[in-house]
Amino acid sequence: MSDERFDLAVLGAGPGGYVAAIRAAQLGLRVACIDENRQLGGTCLRVGCIPSKALLESSERYAETRHGLAAHGVVVDEVELDLERMMARKNEIVGTLTGGIELLFKKNGVTAIRGRGRVHANGVLEIESDEGGRAIYAERILLATGSRPAALAGVEEDGDLIGNSTAALAWPEVPNKLVVIGAGYIGLELGSVWHRLGAQVVVLEALDHILPGMDNELASLAQRAFKRQGMTFRLGSFVESAKVEQDRCAITLTGGDALDADRVLVATGRVPATAELGLEEAGVELDERGFVRTDSSFQTTVAGIYALGDCIGGAMLAHKASDEGVACAEIIAGGHGHVDYGIIPAIVYTHPEIASVGQTEEQLQEQGIDYRKGVCPYGASGRAHSLGDTDGRVKILADAATDRVMGVHIIGIRAGDMIAEAATAMAFGASSEDIARVVHAHPTLSELVREAALAVDGRAIHT
Ligand code: NAI
Repeated sequence: MSDERFDLAVLGAGPGGYVAAIRAAQLGLRVACIDENRQLGGTCLRVGCIPSKALLESSERYAETRHGLAAHGVVVDEVELDLERMMARKNEIVGTLTGGIELLFKKNGVTAIRGRGRVHANGVLEIESDEGGRAIYAERILLATGSRPAALAGVEEDGDLIGNSTAALAWPEVPNKLVVIGAGYIGLELGSVWHRLGAQVVVLEALDHILPGMDNELASLAQRAFKRQGMTFRLGSFVESAKVEQDRCAITLTGGDALDADRVLVATGRVPATAELGLEEAGVELDERGFVRTDSSFQTTVAGIYALGDCIGGAMLAHKASDEGVACAEIIAGGHGHVDYGIIPAIVYTHPEIASVGQTEEQLQEQGIDYRKGVCPYGASGRAHSLGDTDGRVKILADAATDRVMGVHIIGIRAGDMIAEAATAMAFGASSEDIARVVHAHPTLSELVREAALAVDGRAIHT
């Protein structure tokens, strides 16, 4: 057995794992965090949230400089795209933030170990890396191995012309024509990036609407906005095959329709990264889709082995994993941990931004919950006018009997920042009247949230 002994070994240094490791160390545990990548931070920091937001920001500035500045009286002669610089900036941001995790580990006394971990019985973790194999022993093991892009049957990803989100974050040139398979978070965010940079973008979606799971009204408003920008949507289009033929991508849909493209982005969901970790041999049960089964304390079917984040299912969101990381570390350290799964905000960082927390209208209707709805359009906000962006709305859904806020859905500029107020209010069990009675600074977009709250009771002033 190894002489390297820890109270807790965390497998995976993504937003679930690294947060759990730091919190456990803060609580006095001796912690190791193992990751096979040189850069810590997992999918979120290396090839997910952070690099995509860097490119969304850069591409939005490029598009705005080309098309949006004249209205402000700013005259720009010629605008050029330096894609290499844009990508370098993205890589610099990733470098800074992944390096930041390294520093946080040092500060909190977490031992970072590079290598691919494999779980054995009795707390032994075998770690394989370029330097060879080693084993460590941990009183408790936490699986935070995350997820990876789902491969699509019939689609031959060559890692270049046909690729997933990781590939699309680093394409060396702007494709003339890009086909995106899947109108979920990734398809819309990365589709927007390449569309702003000049690609003709066609989004193929199997369902009859975009953004599955999102409030239907918001999803259709979003689709209208993306169409106005020039993106093409083909709903009800199930992709059967895609392959590279003579440097072009050939895509076939069920029913026989065919398309071609310079590049294809496959964005049809993510699957848990739970294979080849020795889990089955160790007795850790997975469900039929490969997610690790856990109880309400994040404990797997093996005592002393815990799991959280994307690899246990639920919303595949960094902040959900991080909150689970804190809760799990606190439980392991002998305290109490809790995640309110009913109040997890979700944001699509497109333009307009789309942000949601709590229940959608469809969910409330399904459960037969009587609700009142207050809506305020962005056009009612002086701040939105001064920003030159009045496209969007805030919608608040409140229980008809108690006025308790059940869901808030925002589409429009900076929706992702405004949703935090709604989540906080919901966490305190606020009614729409509670929000309406709070003084909101003028002129801010947050006033739209208050107006929507007033509108629940038909008392809006500005609409
Ligand atoms: P998704 O599950 O959001 O959307 C995938 C879409 O692909 C669905 O609409 C589905 O109907 C469609 N689809 C599946 N098979 C198809 C086929 N053969 N032909 C046509 N369409 C097909 O998955 P996505 O966008 O890949 O994102 C994966 C995960 O990553 C999500 O769970 C999301 O929560 C997370 N994520 C979150 C972000 C954020 O918080 N801003 C950004 C990016 C990803």
